[in-house]
Amino acid sequence: MKRPRKLAVVTGASGGLGLEFARLLARDGYDLALVARSQEKLESVARELRERHGASVQTVVLDLAQADAAGELVRRVPRCDVLVNNAGFASNGRFDRLDESRIEEEVRLDVLTLTMLARKYVPAMIERRDGRMLNVASTAAFLPGPFMAVYYAAKAYVLSFSQALAEELRGSGVTVTCLCPGATATGFAERAGTQQTLLFTLPVADAARTAAAGYRGMLRGKLVVVPPSATNWLVELSSRLTPRRPLLWFSRKAVEVEGR
Ligand SMILES: NC(=O)c1ccc[n+]([C@@H]2O[C@H](COP(=O)([O-])OP(=O)(O)OC[C@H]3O[C@@H](n4cnc5c(N)ncnc54)[C@H](OP(=O)(O)O)[C@@H]3O)[C@@H](O)[C@H]2O)c1
Repeated sequence: MKRPRKLAVVTGASGGLGLEFARLLARDGYDLALVARSQEKLESVARELRERHGASVQTVVLDLAQADAAGELVRRVPRCDVLVNNAGFASNGRFDRLDESRIEEEVRLDVLTLTMLARKYVPAMIERRDGRMLNVASTAAFLPGPFMAVYYAAKAYVLSFSQALAEELRGSGVTVTCLCPGATATGFAERAGTQQTLLFTLPVADAARTAAAGYRGMLRGKLVVVPPSATNWLVELSSRLTPRRPLLWFSRKAVEVEGR
């Protein structure tokens, strides 16, 4: 009997890194469930992947920052062999001036939904002794981020959670990989309001290359993937070696926008 093709669920697949993950998975013969809020963009990605790779693609139009978003996704897509927990966004500005509802949305999407999707899909993966998870954090996970305090803390959570889960699942047939990209050319900076920051005026990485680094790492069952670049190396190293106060100053300078 022919074995069914494996199904990969990619959150945030309507553009940016998620679109690139979807392309890589379709190229390698996975069927896909693509999740995001923008129906038209999802449909256009799905058309591309069906035409180029013959993949079976389901689009799921869903706001993953809403209450019980993970439950809703699992109801619509009950099976998952590969979970790419990619959807996320950031907010730039002084914490006390940020819109409360935006903070809530950010924590729900970047932390809560990612965690609950893992919780809901992992048991069946363990039962099948087969599954892969790729959680997208950031180099922001390595240090606190004044003026992007919630985002940096959320990504530190993703990095910590992913590593702990990977260790719990060691030997189960299920692997967990955490990708920590630096600034990358996607829609991220515009939504976060970080285009004029120092971080985004330095050379930014290419989305396809960044996704490919994470994807390769996931296939190999690597724990943490930091795409190679001078900036990423500097952030990682300085977060380990620099005393706290100067590190906070350096981190602040990278993302602070005057008057915000
Ligand atoms: N680009 C960078 O510099 C960078 C650096 C480090 C880490 N990251 C991380 O990489 C991941 C992917 O971001 P990206 O750079 O590809 O940004 P992007 O181009 O803005 O893409 C974000 C994706 O998430 C989806 N999304 C956003 N809010 C959503 C919601 N409430 N419900 C469902 N889907 C939602 C978006 O689709 P819709 O708008 O259609 O919903 C889009 O497909 C994020 O976790 C981000 O934190 C990015």
